[in-house]
Amino acid sequence: MASLVGAVMTSHVPAIGRAIAKNLQQDPYWKPFFDGYPRARAWLAEAKPDVVVAFYNDHGLNYFLDTLPTFGVGAAAEYANADEGWGIPTLAPVGGHPDLSWHIVETLVDAEFDVTTCQKMLVDHAVTLPMALLWPDADAWPVKIVPITINTLQYPFPSPGRCLKLGQAVGRAIASFDEDLRVAVLGTGGLSHQLDGTRAGFINKAFDMMSLEALVGDPDRLARYSALDIVREAGAQGFELVNWIAARGALGGRVEKVHAHYHIPISNTAAGLLVLENHDRVAVAA
Ligand code: DHB
Ligand code: FE
Repeated sequence: MASLVGAVMTSHVPAIGRAIAKNLQQDPYWKPFFDGYPRARAWLAEAKPDVVVAFYNDHGLNYFLDTLPTFGVGAAAEYANADEGWGIPTLAPVGGHPDLSWHIVETLVDAEFDVTTCQKMLVDHAVTLPMALLWPDADAWPVKIVPITINTLQYPFPSPGRCLKLGQAVGRAIASFDEDLRVAVLGTGGLSHQLDGTRAGFINKAFDMMSLEALVGDPDRLARYSALDIVREAGAQGFELVNWIAARGALGGRVEKVHAHYHIPISNTAAGLLVLENHDRVAVAA
């Protein structure tokens, strides 16, 4: 059977792609950010996942505002990256695991999550930059992926509680997948940030600190917020926190915090990183 080894949650600011392309890891602006990642890489090198199930939000590359699923699951053999207009280099395509994708889709639909399935899917900076941060030296990506999208772009948003339950159902799907695979989950985006409107530049360190703690031991605390409350507390784009909440939901009740890192600001974002090891085989029941 497949086993879920743990979770990595990380910000995905596009400027990271430019910094990597220009080798700015030791630059005074970037060093405090990049210094967070070696510990996450070391954990992955030990945990050795074969597949990463990635919870993230597409930013208008694969979907657009006219056709935007609340929850989408990739079921492709390969996921290409493409130019999004941020001026960052396009990264190599990532292989998929269609059998695990379809098992997750079936489990989710059985659990009354009526997801959109994507047999063709482009992945944007929310997938490629976390991968570039976690496997910077790989000649070829060492993992396959199953991408799962959550709408954080356009109202109405799914509630944080619903996103936690989505993650829990994905955790049960992974635990019941009949193949000897090591799986990690990834949650990307956040932490607090707002890119536009009168609150552009908004960051809320106190809320981010509370979130980093709750994600370890009390994810239900975050699940009790309404979507609008998360937007108020974390900023309009800080709502990406629900990708982390979903990733946490996939893990069991007992997790160990391996590593946390927080740095303000990267671009307009409070950059966060959290690594959790899973100590329960089966995710919390619905
Ligand atoms: C920024 C952050 C994001 O999460 C994103 O998707 C785009 C831009 C930023 O802070 O610049
Ligand atoms: Fe984003």
